[in-house]
Amino acid sequence: MRDALLAWYDTHRRDLPWRHTHDPWAVWVSEVMLQQTRVESVIGYWQRFLARFPTPAALAAAPLDDLLALWAGLGYYARARHLHRAAQQVVERHGGEIPNDPEAFGALAGVGRYTCGAVLSIAFGRALPVVDGNVERVLCRVDRIEEDPRAPAVSRRLWAQAAALADGERPGDLNQALMELGATVCTPRAPRCLLCPIRSACGGADVAERLPLKAKRAARRTEHRVAALVRDARGVWLARRPDAGLLAGLWELPSADGLDPAALGLFVTGEARIVEHAFTHRHWTLHVYPAEGVPAGAVHVPYGALADVALCGPALKALRAFDVPGAPRRRGAGR
Ligand code: ADE
Repeated sequence: MRDALLAWYDTHRRDLPWRHTHDPWAVWVSEVMLQQTRVESVIGYWQRFLARFPTPAALAAAPLDDLLALWAGLGYYARARHLHRAAQQVVERHGGEIPNDPEAFGALAGVGRYTCGAVLSIAFGRALPVVDGNVERVLCRVDRIEEDPRAPAVSRRLWAQAAALADGERPGDLNQALMELGATVCTPRAPRCLLCPIRSACGGADVAERLPLKAKRAARRTEHRVAALVRDARGVWLARRPDAGLLAGLWELPSADGLDPAALGLFVTGEARIVEHAFTHRHWTLHVYPAEGVPAGAVHVPYGALADVALCGPALKALRAFDVPGAPRRRGAGR
């Protein structure tokens, strides 16, 4: 299976920019961004990020707000906060050098078993496993595991299986081959088993589409919010979200819970436009009203500065819904 995976990876892998480097920092950043986010969304962010923060020391020295501004639209902002903290730890504990050691690297902020295995195997060739959603799906099908893969006993088995596979030559490529196979061939729906390099070893091809078993997750709760687009010739008014909780510290339109625009305390001048935004456990329906007045607790941001503000995803969508000039056009992960 190792040989078949590596041979397939050598000819069929996608040409992704982070596959042209072994710089552990560049690899680390790519793996953090790729968690919960699709490859197509990540590429531009990764390039801008490394141009701005080429080393852990560069990120460690930057204000968190600069990082969040760059991250705007990618979602899952805790990843960015952790990376910022971890970069500072790399400077404090390791003189700015990323440690080639699972103990030391795994002790950094936000570095769990997946990130540790991915970065150290890809950048340093350490024989460490990775199990992400793609690998989980591939292995559940190969082994025909008809149990919830998140159950602790099953998860242990998957990690052991991945560790056995990674243990050999080119562990980084082997890990990436498993992930790549899951992303491009062994897909959640309509897997392309006829094109699979390990189909002869696969015990689950006939039932692939219903594996892995899905644990039911709670439905997203819908929350209605009202927001105000207050603009003048030079810019718009934005408010900063609280330092803790959902979208902590990011910028949004002045807004309030519920459906009543009176809660905004402003003079509404037109019809609402609707912005929908899905989070992991909730869904916002945002009713954005054009309005006039000075929103409490907000600041005036010139159009030319919007690209440098850490806007949250819903705010980006709201600004675009009104064709506000200067609103960044780039698409994030939709989270
Ligand atoms: N998903 C996350 N990291 C990946 C990688 N290095 N290769 C393929 N898919 C991935």
